[in-house]
Amino acid sequence: MEVYPSLFTLPIFVFLIISWSPLCLVVATSPCHFPAIFNFGDSNSDTGGLSAVFGQAPPPHGESFFHHPAGRYCDGRLIVDFFAEKLGLPYLSAYLDSVGSNFRHGANFATAGSTIRPQNTTLRQSGFSPISLDVQWNEFYDFHRRSQIFRSKGGIYKELLPKASDFSRALYTFDIGQNDLTSGYFLNMSANEVRAYVPDVLNQFKNIVSYVYGQGGRNFWIHNTGPFGCLPYVIDRIPISKAEFDKVGCGTPFNEVAQYFNRGLKEVVAQLRKELPHAAITYVDVYTVKYNLISRARTHGFNESLRACCGHGGKYNYNKNIGCGRKITVRGKQIMIGKPCKDPSRWINWDGVHYTQAANEWVFEQIVDGSFSDPPIPLKMACHRQPLS
Ligand SMILES: *[C@@H]1O[C@H](CO)[C@@H](O)[C@H](O)[C@H]1NC(C)=O
Ligand SMILES: *[C@@H]1O[C@H](CO)[C@@H](O)[C@H](O)[C@H]1NC(C)=O
Ligand SMILES: *[C@@H]1O[C@H](CO)[C@@H](O)[C@H](O)[C@H]1NC(C)=O
Repeated sequence: MEVYPSLFTLPIFVFLIISWSPLCLVVATSPCHFPAIFNFGDSNSDTGGLSAVFGQAPPPHGESFFHHPAGRYCDGRLIVDFFAEKLGLPYLSAYLDSVGSNFRHGANFATAGSTIRPQNTTLRQSGFSPISLDVQWNEFYDFHRRSQIFRSKGGIYKELLPKASDFSRALYTFDIGQNDLTSGYFLNMSANEVRAYVPDVLNQFKNIVSYVYGQGGRNFWIHNTGPFGCLPYVIDRIPISKAEFDKVGCGTPFNEVAQYFNRGLKEVVAQLRKELPHAAITYVDVYTVKYNLISRARTHGFNESLRACCGHGGKYNYNKNIGCGRKITVRGKQIMIGKPCKDPSRWINWDGVHYTQAANEWVFEQIVDGSFSDPPIPLKMACHRQPLS
């Protein structure tokens, strides 16, 4: 995908392209050299936030790559980890993790179970994290301000905290919204009731992006929400009729709500581009990539599309009461009853809720070059604002 520098060596050619098409401006510009990533989101990008506060995601989480639990709800790396690798940055430390963290190249505010809107239930009641996007914003605001106070003291703080100028050059990544949609379903709302509150969710999302811009953020990379109607924790728990499953086995009404949310998100991004004159905002259609993967799993080298690799029985190897890594004690001996499959690299779904490392890597490879982005620019170019059409 590194075709850009070579074109750059032909200035005349580049000049001609520029004069023909505004899209080709992308080709003419240089890579961004992001010094940091600041991530906001849910379990799709949590690298240790929820684990730091509510207890470590147990083994076998992490087994395929870290070989021990690593704060991720996955057998290995998440999409945001592959971003860090691609940009030559270390994996992001969770802002809430006070042990061994280094924020020199960014911080991760995401926690598993996070929503955009604050929920009126506790984590114990509903499973949703109290660290909603507004809380993540508060954390970021405080981090921005206080990191500079401490950095000025020098010494170890200089090695652990970002430079002031990194905040405007950093990449701000967002992957959040799925839990706002499922939370309504888990409160027994109908699809129409869930749709009815989507504008409020999107409005709150929009506000947070504007606030980050107000703090100097300029480069935004925003994932839309995935096809959660293909995930066991939704289709196993919320009843729909047989006719409402598509030929892949995903629950159509859920995926329609995800797409409804995504159309709204795309509009919000268009509004933000108008309102924030110096922001480069990339909207990434992760929905389509994930659905392509699930609907053509074998073509892409995966054996299992819907069933969970790690779980306990039932149609989807998913049991809400016996999660991945769950152990019981039998005659004084601990036995794992939420067991992993033999070869997670052939499975798309890890634990009924999250994707495997192999699936995350596949999704990463599809989106990193901009093929599923609006505007269609690669990750490394995502600091270049495109002209408004
Ligand atoms: C929580 O309750 C407040 C006050 O009734 C309401 O405005 C808000 O929309 C509720 N939030 C959610 C996520 O339902
Ligand atoms: C939703 O409906 C189910 C089945 O009727 C019931 O068991 C459950 O308590 C309800 N949940 C809520 C949050 O009202
Ligand atoms: C996947 O499919 C191949 C070919 O059908 C088979 O050899 C292999 O054992 C399967 N692996 C799993 C994990 O089911």
